[in-house]
Amino acid sequence: MRQTDASVAAAPRDGFSSSFGVLAATLGSAVGLGNIWKFPYLTGANGGAGFLLVYLLATLLIGLPVMITEIMLGRTAKADSVGTFKKLAPGTPWWLIGGFGVLAAFLIMAFYSEVAAWVLAYVFKSLAGSALSSDPAHTSAAFDQLIHDPLQSLLWQWAVLVLIGGILLLGVSKGIEAVTKKLMPLLFILLVVVGVRSLLLPGADAGLRFLFQPDFSKISSGVVLTAMGLAFFKLSIGMGTMLTYGSYFRDDQNIPATALRVMSADLLVSMLAGIAIFPAVFAFGFAPAAGPSLLFITIPAVFAQMPFGGLFMVVFFVLTAIAATGAMLSILEVPVSVLSERLGWSRAQATVCTLLALALIGASAALSNSVLADFKWFGMTMFDLFDALTSNVLLPLGGILLCLFTGWVWGPRRFADALSNGGTLANRRLLAALFLVTRWVSPLLILVVMLKGLGAF
Ligand code: TRP
Repeated sequence: MRQTDASVAAAPRDGFSSSFGVLAATLGSAVGLGNIWKFPYLTGANGGAGFLLVYLLATLLIGLPVMITEIMLGRTAKADSVGTFKKLAPGTPWWLIGGFGVLAAFLIMAFYSEVAAWVLAYVFKSLAGSALSSDPAHTSAAFDQLIHDPLQSLLWQWAVLVLIGGILLLGVSKGIEAVTKKLMPLLFILLVVVGVRSLLLPGADAGLRFLFQPDFSKISSGVVLTAMGLAFFKLSIGMGTMLTYGSYFRDDQNIPATALRVMSADLLVSMLAGIAIFPAVFAFGFAPAAGPSLLFITIPAVFAQMPFGGLFMVVFFVLTAIAATGAMLSILEVPVSVLSERLGWSRAQATVCTLLALALIGASAALSNSVLADFKWFGMTMFDLFDALTSNVLLPLGGILLCLFTGWVWGPRRFADALSNGGTLANRRLLAALFLVTRWVSPLLILVVMLKGLGAF
């Protein structure tokens, strides 16, 4: 018996093979529809630069410490998100953090895969030339037609799930790492091209002012909670994604530096998306507060104005699909790794079961704009409910628990040891400060923002 245990523990675990691979996969997780779809529409709906500033504060004071903590716990335990807590604190209920994470993963994927489905549909629409038009009435009609059709909504979602399943089956280094390494640099380049084009439109300056000149009159406690939820969502933290990816990190990887790089690059991508979208929104007289449809009605109108616009639009939606792919891989890796490492299922079995369950839950989000449009809980369709519940409740709750575990159970010595790679990195002072933030500042801040935003006091 003891022999078997030892050989299981010694079996080589798949992981990221190079330092660049770590960065690409982690950044691939962070950068996604959160940057290209959610960030612009939330910034637009919540008043622009003031929202951006609150978002920045949340990213620095909460996002960064939680991200570092998650990666650290995963790398130390080298296990899935439930197994990590079973290893680090055996016999305690802390593994529930991993359990909540699995739940959150399903709820996020349910609506995320539907937005990815719209993106995929737009790849084909733009190939066929049917979505491109400089007339806003036409681009919004084209989008409505897609989301109001139940069959199309479901089929595109299934196509997304099959695509992601295929990559996940290839494994961590040959699937996730290989795919994200090739595609992330391309995404950057294309966003810059679209951004420059948008800036050159007459009337673009109103968009820049909206994005960079803060107006604090729009900031309410609800808006602060939305900004914090966005920080969690964009950095992929609070539900075990970073923990799981951390478990694939190499032992000589500098975790705080990697987290800082990922955070900065993620922010840069969001800003580029904002610069690509808002000048165009104002130049064409769209409403910045259009909500979730913003990306799908403005981007086609921008492209319609430029030479080879049809071609650029295909490339843009292909790259958005790619960004969404890296993110979805990282969301699904959480349940897949829990199922395969906890229950001993094969990776294929775990992947297929996860996707089947998702097709079921996801359908309720996919049909939220058609047959289930009137089916509401708390006044929200399933699509909106899954979105609000995860970003505003589950992820922040996960963040609080992760900080409490690290600050009060794990403790300063092991924290400093794990994040200095056993003393080989000269970052003691930084870690001492970071520990205090993780122990006190972040969890209290999350708690206050969450309770106030939800109207508890
Ligand atoms: N960060 C991704 C995006 O911006 C989405 C994502 C991936 C995510 N993994 C996550 C969100 C884990 C919350 C939790 O699109």
